[in-house]
Amino acid sequence: MTAPLVTRVSRADAAAVGDAVHCLKAGGLVAFPTETVYGLGADATDGRAIARLYEAKGRPAFNPLIAHVADLAAARALARFEAEAEKLAAAFWPGPLTLVLPKTAGCPVAELATAGLDSIAVRVPHHPVAQKILAAFGRPIVAPSANRSGHVSPTTAAHVLADLRGRIDLIVDGGSTPVGVESTIIACLGEPMLLRPGGLPREDIEHVLGRPLAEPPAGIAPEDDAPLAPGMLASHYAPRTPLRLDARRVDSGEALLAFGPTLAEGAASAAQVLNLSERGDLIEAAANLFSHLRALDAAGAKSIAVMPIPHDGLGEAVNDRLARAAAPR
Ligand code: TXA
Ligand code: MG
Repeated sequence: MTAPLVTRVSRADAAAVGDAVHCLKAGGLVAFPTETVYGLGADATDGRAIARLYEAKGRPAFNPLIAHVADLAAARALARFEAEAEKLAAAFWPGPLTLVLPKTAGCPVAELATAGLDSIAVRVPHHPVAQKILAAFGRPIVAPSANRSGHVSPTTAAHVLADLRGRIDLIVDGGSTPVGVESTIIACLGEPMLLRPGGLPREDIEHVLGRPLAEPPAGIAPEDDAPLAPGMLASHYAPRTPLRLDARRVDSGEALLAFGPTLAEGAASAAQVLNLSERGDLIEAAANLFSHLRALDAAGAKSIAVMPIPHDGLGEAVNDRLARAAAPR
């Protein structure tokens, strides 16, 4: 668990923007206004900062995050735009629209932020404070709504403070957010599909596309922090190599996903060993989880033995994702 922080609140002026950028560069957590709701920002390329962000929100699992960028050019470095995505971006960015798109090969966003998926949610907000921070930072910023998991999204700095005081570094206070509900999320991975209704009306989107949006699979309600997307549509990240959880020894031909200073018995003859955190730090483990899984999956082992991981703090989310990755399919 992280020690409590002193959460500063600054009126959104040039100094606060500079402070925000400084803090993000140092791996800190900064809440800032967008036109929809306040977001809790972290450097999208910094896995450890993102792990701290999940911890600050108290997310029960690593749901994928939206990468915010200053403009379409910056978005192209993260995601591939097919014709319909181009149309939507041209019509509605900057604005309250998030597009879920195929990730580019060189996408610099940390695996943890996209929960290991091959898709990425991208948004260009038009709020002047968000725009200034993004332009000055010059890198993508992941930002879920700046509330504790399960609480409603904040539309004022006071809401953010009530939920996250002592858990984040800085709140940039830009007054109340004009739209007040989260962005509309459209997946453009095939037929454009409405994943979450939000600040941009469906009709406006359908008008631009010239056809109705596809509906998500029946029986799934898009909920804050419990989205249909990772579970249902995009499906969880799953390695091809089977996982063997809570492994105390490594069998021959296995790769090892280790945790902590003492390796499982038989580690010396493992096909490959990667340690989530030699120090036994769960924040570091979370930051490494998806990239280590991918690397071990590529090792051609018969299975991946995963050492036991404690369930406290981010361990709950790490174990949740490991259990899903190990599920038979
Ligand atoms: O208005 C908003 O969108 C705000 C502001 C701060 O930008 N952000 C926001 O983030 O609402 P969050 O994390 O509370 O909600 C993001 C949603 C989640 O339901 C998540 O599962 C979904 O976006 N999402 C992110 N990446 C995805 C992906 N690759 N595929 C499908 N859904 C994805
Ligand atoms: Mg949210």
